[in-house]
Parts: sequence; C-alpha cells; structure tokens
Amino acid sequence: MNLLEGNHISKTYSRGDSSVNALIDVGFTLADGEILGIVGESGSGKSTLLRQISGLEVPDEGEILLNGRPLSPKRTREEYSTMQMIFQDAVGSFHPRRTIRSSIRETVHNLRGRSAEPDLESLCAIVGLDPVLADRYPRNLSGGQCQRFAIARAVAVDPKILLCDEVTSALDVSSQAQVLKLISDICRERHMSAIFVSHDLAVVSTICDRVMVMYHGRVVEEGKARDVIDHPQDEYSRRLISSVLEIKKDESKG
Ligand SMILES: Nc1ncnc2c1ncn2[C@@H]1O[C@H](COP(=O)(O)OP(=O)(O)O)[C@@H](O)[C@H]1O
Ligand SMILES: [Mg+2]
Repeated sequence: MNLLEGNHISKTYSRGDSSVNALIDVGFTLADGEILGIVGESGSGKSTLLRQISGLEVPDEGEILLNGRPLSPKRTREEYSTMQMIFQDAVGSFHPRRTIRSSIRETVHNLRGRSAEPDLESLCAIVGLDPVLADRYPRNLSGGQCQRFAIARAVAVDPKILLCDEVTSALDVSSQAQVLKLISDICRERHMSAIFVSHDLAVVSTICDRVMVMYHGRVVEEGKARDVIDHPQDEYSRRLISSVLEIKKDESKG
C-alpha cells in the first residue's frame, strides 16, 4: 500500500473574469521512505499540488489517501502533523519578532499539545547547527541557517512526510548542496518520505528516487529519476532535460 496517494486531483482558480486550471486530473503515489521529485517550469502547478496535499487548500475534484484512507477536507491535528511543509522563503516562514526557539515551541504546542516540548539540543544536532543560534531572531541568521531551522521545526513534530517547495531556490550553491544532503539524510535515517518540488531538474535528480514532470497543470511524465533523464518520453520533458544539459555544457566551457 502507498503511504500517500492522490487521484484525479483538479484545481481551478478564478482570476477576475477568467480562470486558471492550475491542476488537471493529477495523480501521484508516494511509497514509505521514498523521495518523490516534482519538476516543471514556473506556473506548472507544483505549489498548487503541494497546497492540496498539505491541506492548506481543498481540491475541486479528486481524493488524497493517507495509508489507504481518504483525507477529509477538514484535517485533524494528527493528520496535519503527518505532513510538514518547508518553503523557499525560510526567513519569512518564521515570526519576525520571536526567537527561533519560541517559534519552534509554538508549532510543537499547536500540533502536539501544550505539554509537548521540543528538544532544541537534539534538533540542532540533527540539522547541524549550534543550539545558541536558536535564541536569535530570524533576521539575524543566514538564509541557509533559517532553512535548517525550518527543517528542524518540521522534524520537531515527528512527521511521516516532508513537503518541500523550492527549498533550495533562495540559497547559494554550497548551502543548496548542504540542505539537499540534510533532507535526504534525515529521510533515510528517520525513515521519512518527502515530496521535493523544484523548477530545477538538476536539484531534483540529485536527491529523488522518482521524478514526476508537470506541464500546464498536468503530469506529463513519471519514472525513476535516471530513466526520466536518460530516456524522456514526453516532448516537454525532453526540452526541459536538454535545456539543463545545455546549461551544464556551457558551464563546463568555463
Ligand atoms: N491563489 C491563486 N489565485 C489565482 N491563480 C493562482 C493561485 N495560485 C496559483 N495560481 C495560478 O495557478 C498556476 C499554477 O501556479 P503554481 O502552482 O504556483 O505553479 P508553480 O509552483 O509550478 O510555479 C499559475 O498559472 C498561477 O498563476
Ligand atoms: Mg511554486
């Protein structure tokens, strides 16, 4: 049985007189312990799909099943804590006038109850940060440090699934690599799964077991990361992949 599964998910947004079909009949599966990558250009529906999965929004059509059971539109606290989102804007994902420690405590209290206390020392060890940094405000930390704390906050509620939306897009290249390794290590060691969204196929292919390619609200390709890169079946995937290869070739020209 799949840990998580989505079937026939559609979502339309109205914008003034017109409407946008952000998701059209999207399906996906996520196995226990798997890292699923979702790649596609800006506007292809990746963030919209994560919002439906996380429960931030309710799809117009379709169903999402957790351990084979459909999730109801109104999630329980338990169901919310099963999936934790991590966003691109790590600094902005923390309250500006609270210390990191206080923000993490608040999340844990909301999802696990008032009596639950996060162990900041262990969490910092997991994400490789000095615990004294937890007493700072988000603006006094680097983007990479905030992203590690965002991962710590997610791990603090002991989720089964991490939902990562462009989590490395705002970081410099070396922090990007560290955050990718951190997420993949955490998933392997703690037996967690992840859905990892990025517009960057190179990023996705480094940490994902399987990749889904989205284009204009639809899934156009899906398969093992290596197979999708080596033998893309769909025209759009082929273009996406050849553009990445072009960039790589240009970089190697120096
Ligand atoms: N709240 C919203 N209201 C109106 N249109 C939206 C909203 N959110 C997303 N969209 C539109 O839905 C499409 C998919 O957006 P999004 O899921 O953000 O794509 P991606 O994350 O792949 O860049 C885009 O055309 C976007 O403009
Ligand atoms: Mg997005």
